[in-house]
Amino acid sequence: MEYDFTTRVDRRGSGAAKWEEMFRKNPNVSPEIIPLSVADMELPNPPEIIQGLKDHLDKTILGYTTVTPEYTQAVIAWMKKRHNWDVKAEWIIQSPGVVPAFFTALKAFTEPGDGVIIQPPVYYPFFMAIENNDRVLVSNPLIRDDAKLSYRIDFEDLEAKAKDPKNKLLIFCSPHNPVGRVWAREELQRISDICLANNVLVVSDEIHFDLLAPGVEHTVYATLSKEAEGHCVICTAPSKTFNLAGMQDSNIIIPNEELRKKLQAEFMKSALFMISNLGLKAGELAYTKCEAWLDAFLLVLKQNYEYVKDYIARHIPQIKVYPLEGTYLMWLDFRAFGLDQQALEQFMISEAEWFTDEGYLFGKEGSGFERINLACPLSVLEEAMDRLKKALAARKLI
Ligand SMILES: Cc1ncc(COP(=O)(O)O)c(C=O)c1O
Repeated sequence: MEYDFTTRVDRRGSGAAKWEEMFRKNPNVSPEIIPLSVADMELPNPPEIIQGLKDHLDKTILGYTTVTPEYTQAVIAWMKKRHNWDVKAEWIIQSPGVVPAFFTALKAFTEPGDGVIIQPPVYYPFFMAIENNDRVLVSNPLIRDDAKLSYRIDFEDLEAKAKDPKNKLLIFCSPHNPVGRVWAREELQRISDICLANNVLVVSDEIHFDLLAPGVEHTVYATLSKEAEGHCVICTAPSKTFNLAGMQDSNIIIPNEELRKKLQAEFMKSALFMISNLGLKAGELAYTKCEAWLDAFLLVLKQNYEYVKDYIARHIPQIKVYPLEGTYLMWLDFRAFGLDQQALEQFMISEAEWFTDEGYLFGKEGSGFERINLACPLSVLEEAMDRLKKALAARKLI
């Protein structure tokens, strides 16, 4: 089937969080602008999901819903086919999202005052989970190599922090949002060696695990070894992969029964046990009918990434582009322009009309960077790059 990755979807007035945020930041934004921030896609959903949901609506009512065997089978088959991971049905817990899952995991597996390790610059709800629940934020920043344009894990620092008995849990982002790394098996093995040796539980947020550059392989943390499998919580969802973030369907997979029961009990404390009827059906349709759509999308993603990278190399070489191994989020270093973070943000919003996720949101290590969303029609990026070039030229920055 031919898929449509070029039509622009006008989400004005539809309650799209990203668009409402854009209007709030700049009420006078030009009418044709499409924001490049929050991680959902400016693309139509796979037609198999839309048609499947319509068929579903024709023959059901929208009452209380429980997981179906078909859904569970769909999740298991996807994990096997795309990730070579043998998942047992009983390992899977439903959660209305990955964010509620790692918030709940902190409450289940740590006490107020315990240390929780994260690796900034990183997805900002990781900070919120720790701060909103009175845990202590323990930072193990990634090491940035400006010359090689790469990030790596600071294992020595991680080990020192893991050795402190107050630090009980690592929220690990794999693939990493926003730096775009897909961790190699050897890197995961070192994480696992350190965390197992020091009894630090790994909550591995793998929501971006299907979104890989050609030739890049993702290893699910739980598949490293029996020991790693027994000491982790793996957060997955079809939502990033198939643009279903509004459907509240995610799969938290925990092979260790004791850990699983603890997380389930914590979910029950907040009555977080109902699931969305349409979300469940959308997830099943995604995992059973949309693999071809995903493969086609990954080619569009590659094309969009190459376009932005080439444009920057030709016209705005002051911006440094980090390689995109995974996710559809591109990490750009704007520090060469010498603007402080407020000035950069203001320039983006008012002059370039670039609505991005500002780098500082991901921790102070991200200051001076911009994260842009490549899951959109190429034409959106073509216009955005021209706007940026013009705005920089008007400021005499290029
Ligand atoms: C690393 C990471 N985890 C979780 C989420 C969102 O999870 P959910 O919408 O399932 O709560 C995102 C969304 O961008 C993300 O990047």
